[in-house]
Amino acid sequence: MKIIDYVDILSALRKNKKIFIDGDVIITPLAKEAAKRHNIEIIKKEKKMRKEIIAGNWKMNNCLNESVELAKGIIDGIKELPDKRIVVLCPPFTSLYSVSQLVSQARDERKIQIFSGAQNMYFEDKGAFTGEISADMILSCGGSFVIIGHSERRKIFNETDDLINKKVKKAISKGLIAIVCVGETLEERENSKEFFVVKRQLKQGLKELDLNEITKVVIAYEPVWAIGTGRTATPDIAQKMHEFIRKQILEIFNSEVASEIPILYGGSVKASNIKGLMAEKDIDGVLVGGASLKPDEFLKIIFYEK
Ligand code: 13P
Repeated sequence: MKIIDYVDILSALRKNKKIFIDGDVIITPLAKEAAKRHNIEIIKKEKKMRKEIIAGNWKMNNCLNESVELAKGIIDGIKELPDKRIVVLCPPFTSLYSVSQLVSQARDERKIQIFSGAQNMYFEDKGAFTGEISADMILSCGGSFVIIGHSERRKIFNETDDLINKKVKKAISKGLIAIVCVGETLEERENSKEFFVVKRQLKQGLKELDLNEITKVVIAYEPVWAIGTGRTATPDIAQKMHEFIRKQILEIFNSEVASEIPILYGGSVKASNIKGLMAEKDIDGVLVGGASLKPDEFLKIIFYEK
């Protein structure tokens, strides 16, 4: 239970005269009186106000024809979407243009919130960076999102927090929404380092972002031990980390940003475990790998029942 006291009122007075509260709180009588005197608004934010994002990371799967078939299979199953639910398809670069065309058509015709995104990008605008893809190139193919700092990029391609930070800044400056991945390895968890690692990834990955830039960020918590292993984090384990992430965002930015930023869970998400995960108050969506490659399974995830 959080307590709002006089110090919180003073801090709001120095900022934007608003305090956003999430969940159960106690407001001390002194704080209540001071809030009234200084016209500080205390606004209760519900999880419901945040968008729900169901994103599919297709990783290095599907040639062009297979991607088109998969995207069509998914789109055909979405006549409409529940309020506030957004679907994002992240195919390989080679299919991004075609998948973007399909989602854009679905958006126009069905008025549904479905978008495409890339799985990675480089932070430079252009030049001699053989094999790399720029933010502008993603945008020119119709992509709206980009996954940055996925654990496979960190591990297999040696991406550092510093590189990830450069990519995040560039993506946002160009108008992309950055899905920034964080998460600990099994070894780190077994050594009780999970909170330490995620804190470092957030602090360094989001370094020097201003209050406007952070509104273009979605965080994805993907514990490495749960990716592709069939071993999902229990809703309780995931919620504990999501709550911790929201607290870090509050410390780095402010309570308004913390209560609004979508935090997704990723790691062996399936139709059979989505409901339990989404019932947690700080889990705002999912980043799905393997199960996003099967239209029926992914549609069940998109249309999970509350
Ligand atoms: P899986 O859903 O296959 O475990 O992959 C998760 C993931 O890495 C999404 O980015």
